[in-house]
Amino acid sequence: IFADVALAPRDPILGLTEAFNADTRANKVNLGVGVYYDDEGKLPLLKAVRAAEEARMKNPPARGYQPIEGSVVYDQAVQALLFGHDTQLLRDKRVITAQAIGGTGALKIGADYLKRLVPNATVYISDPSWENHRALFEAAEFPVKTYTYYDASTRGVNFAGMLADLNAMPKDSIVLLHACCHNPTGADLSNEQWDQVIDVIRAKGLIAFLDMAYQGFAEGIQPDAIVLDKFAHSGLQFLVSSSFSKSFSLYGERVGALSIVTESSDESARVLSQLKRVIRTNYSNPPTHGAAVVAAVLTSPELRVMWEHELAEMRERIRAMRIALVEKLKAKGVKQDFSFVIQQRGMFSYTGLTADQVDVLRDKYGIYAVSTGRICLAALNNKNIDAVADAIAAVVA
Ligand code: LMR
Repeated sequence: IFADVALAPRDPILGLTEAFNADTRANKVNLGVGVYYDDEGKLPLLKAVRAAEEARMKNPPARGYQPIEGSVVYDQAVQALLFGHDTQLLRDKRVITAQAIGGTGALKIGADYLKRLVPNATVYISDPSWENHRALFEAAEFPVKTYTYYDASTRGVNFAGMLADLNAMPKDSIVLLHACCHNPTGADLSNEQWDQVIDVIRAKGLIAFLDMAYQGFAEGIQPDAIVLDKFAHSGLQFLVSSSFSKSFSLYGERVGALSIVTESSDESARVLSQLKRVIRTNYSNPPTHGAAVVAAVLTSPELRVMWEHELAEMRERIRAMRIALVEKLKAKGVKQDFSFVIQQRGMFSYTGLTADQVDVLRDKYGIYAVSTGRICLAALNNKNIDAVADAIAAVVA
């Protein structure tokens, strides 16, 4: 049965980590995958996470099955983080949340569920988008098209083009939107632009699916969720995938959630019952540990403060690396203006480096980046930034 199986290509992002791990050069740098490393180049275990784990291990709980949608405490903590503690929306029980296997798992169960609801819909993702978005929705058997998003000439959003594309979509099309820290470009919509997007989504009867993988990495927990607040107040129904991989540095625990905003508590009950069937046939019910740790941190006033502080440190260090990289490139005599790197938000910079330049960075300098020119600023530190700036200066010269 396997004789004719073709060798699949490496994943465009995680495949880079495989190649990086196999690279024996001592001063290699992985700017490919979106992972935050501290200034020592180490993957941090957050103090708030450690404290929650220690408390948990003092009195280790037995590991029964979780409810299909995960624990109530976790799901409510996710809702509070996304939608605030006391909005009418939560009081009206218009939001259902299911723990998911990371943000990717949330997108997957959302995609599978939407396939049951709107089987003939087309999914639209931004041009460009996170590499896995297309693959995920195609795996759920949706046709996937793109809408205009990034404008390489301004390094910003081609908003007129985006609105025109949204306006041309057929009713019930699914529109995948990045709630903040657009991956890969780092170019986000302004609040006024979000208002216009919401108006078109309502007027055209489109289905919004918001991907929130980087809450807290642009300006902070609350400001980064402003778009969710806007959607919540619009009266629309929509989906949100969210992740704690980056904000809790819990990548390998795969802690995420799918939230769906409905019209009423009655609708919520029916939607959740159907979503549970999707989950049950995918992986039955979610794992315990990571979500328990996140829930413990989010519901403990002390640990919550500790976590928000650590998240701010990550955000500020990335920002410092953006500024340092731009300054160093300038100091090295690079003519091209890289100041746009400072405006971009989140972990990434869409550098404008070509696939050929990215190949040279890897082959000659041991610096790994995504072939689209996306680099992860969160992997820069004071030890490797000079080498990276030197290499970029050399390839753009
Ligand atoms: C990324 O874009 O690098 C991250 O979201 C990691 C991943 O799963 O691709």
